[in-house]
Amino acid sequence: MLYGGIPETSQILISGGPGAGKTLMSFEYLYRNAKMGNTSVLFAFEEEPARILENVKSAFSELTDIDDLVRDGKLIIDGKTPSDSILGASDDGHSAYEFGKVLADMESLIMSTKANRVVVDSLSVFNMLIRDDALYRKYMLALILSMRRLGVTSIMTTEMESPERHKLVFKPEYFIFDGIIALYQTGEESKRMLATEILKIRGSKHSFVTTPYEITPAGFRIFAAEDIAPY
Ligand SMILES: Nc1ncnc2c1ncn2[C@@H]1O[C@H](COP(=O)(O)OP(=O)(O)OP(=O)(O)O)[C@@H](O)[C@H]1O
Ligand SMILES: [Mg+2]
Repeated sequence: MLYGGIPETSQILISGGPGAGKTLMSFEYLYRNAKMGNTSVLFAFEEEPARILENVKSAFSELTDIDDLVRDGKLIIDGKTPSDSILGASDDGHSAYEFGKVLADMESLIMSTKANRVVVDSLSVFNMLIRDDALYRKYMLALILSMRRLGVTSIMTTEMESPERHKLVFKPEYFIFDGIIALYQTGEESKRMLATEILKIRGSKHSFVTTPYEITPAGFRIFAAEDIAPY
């Protein structure tokens, strides 16, 4: 669907409903990068690193070298869960200060580990920190510019208002990212269908087809039409 993947130094948003696979998809991206000998960092703002590790190992039971990559420092799950002060920040000046601290910590870990692929899971904490749309967009732009300056390619996750495609709402941060990948859920609970759509990738050709996917023990399986072309 991406005709070769996410362009280097792009800053990509994965948007989806609860349980759509945002964390798992972004983790697999880092895992594949780590397996190539590069360093990957996941900034976990919502769940404890140990919990994330447990969940990904259970979901991806056939990827048996996850622990090895973590031990070798190729796959880093950083869990500086935002301090109470971040969530308790009441005024914009205080929020700006807390945001600056979080960003500086992220930058210093990326530089010291020489990571080239980064995940921020999720952006919701920043949205909680700053409710004003224009200001939130400004923070997101600062985050994106910082990652681009560091030369990393990153995926950041965000919650979708509704998991269904026809209810898609463009959030303010959608416009500042280089690319957006949407994960939808449709159907009844007993027969849930997952599908992904690439809404945009700046500077690159990509599929426009909403395409079903599965989360398998060996990783994501995307049923892209391009893969089943008759020749
Ligand atoms: N061990 C497992 N075996 C099979 N499928 C699993 C397993 N663990 C998780 N899943 C699937 O992955 C989904 C959760 O994926 P993930 O945690 O990446 O979602 P998310 O979009 O990040 O959710 P949230 O919004 O809650 O953070 C589950 O809903 C389930 O369908
Ligand atoms: Mg998640």
